[in-house]
Amino acid sequence: LKSKKTIKHIAFIMDGNGRWASKRHLPRNLGHKEGIKAMMRTAKACNKLAIPYVSFYAFSTENKNRDKSEVDGLISLMREHLDSIADDLSQFGARLNVIGDISYFDSDLQNKITNVQRSTQNIEDRVVNIALNYGGRDELIYAAQQYKGSKIDRPLCDFLYTAGQPDPDILVRTGGEKRLSNFMLYQLAYTELFFSDTFWPDFSDKELNAIIDEYYNRDRRFGK
Ligand code: FPP
Repeated sequence: LKSKKTIKHIAFIMDGNGRWASKRHLPRNLGHKEGIKAMMRTAKACNKLAIPYVSFYAFSTENKNRDKSEVDGLISLMREHLDSIADDLSQFGARLNVIGDISYFDSDLQNKITNVQRSTQNIEDRVVNIALNYGGRDELIYAAQQYKGSKIDRPLCDFLYTAGQPDPDILVRTGGEKRLSNFMLYQLAYTELFFSDTFWPDFSDKELNAIIDEYYNRDRRFGK
């Protein structure tokens, strides 16, 4: 059963950082900082499981509407941590790939994003997508704009930010909400969905393994 259902791509909506922090009377941005640790722990665990593509929803197009202090805090975390994230990923043979419209960010951060991606671009086996200023609807507009100018004998997915990647087999959303919040709207068409009440900073390898076990027990028919 396992060999028939090899997991090629797993995606995560990392929800619950704010509540994790509030519960401890800490500022929300400390929850996001702790969220980075959970993200790296999970990326490593997925690597051990030999999953070649892993995606994390870190900053959505809608997150920009949060309080300025929280948005600034999230952007500072990107500035501070992107280098070490890319370094750590490359230690275990994974390449960092940012998906989303990075033109929103200041040019220094745009340059950092371009540079960290370049620093690991030779790695081919494993890809970790981090979604920054990402919106599924925006991505479809981006894809359609390029599609218009091309020969129409190619599928639309060739023009998404994830062009060339398999669609996620599994989507995990932590934090108790049961919705997609504009994440990978095209790619998730046949994905198996898992919702957990755990706040993202507490997400553990144990819970990941339980989700994967349940995935192997699900019957995927792809509409057949
Ligand atoms: C949702 O929790 C989480 C986010 C909006 C941000 C996730 C970001 C990270 C884990 C850090 C990523 C940073 C880098 C550098 C890639 P929430 O704030 O909506 O939590 P709540 O629902 O409990 O309020």
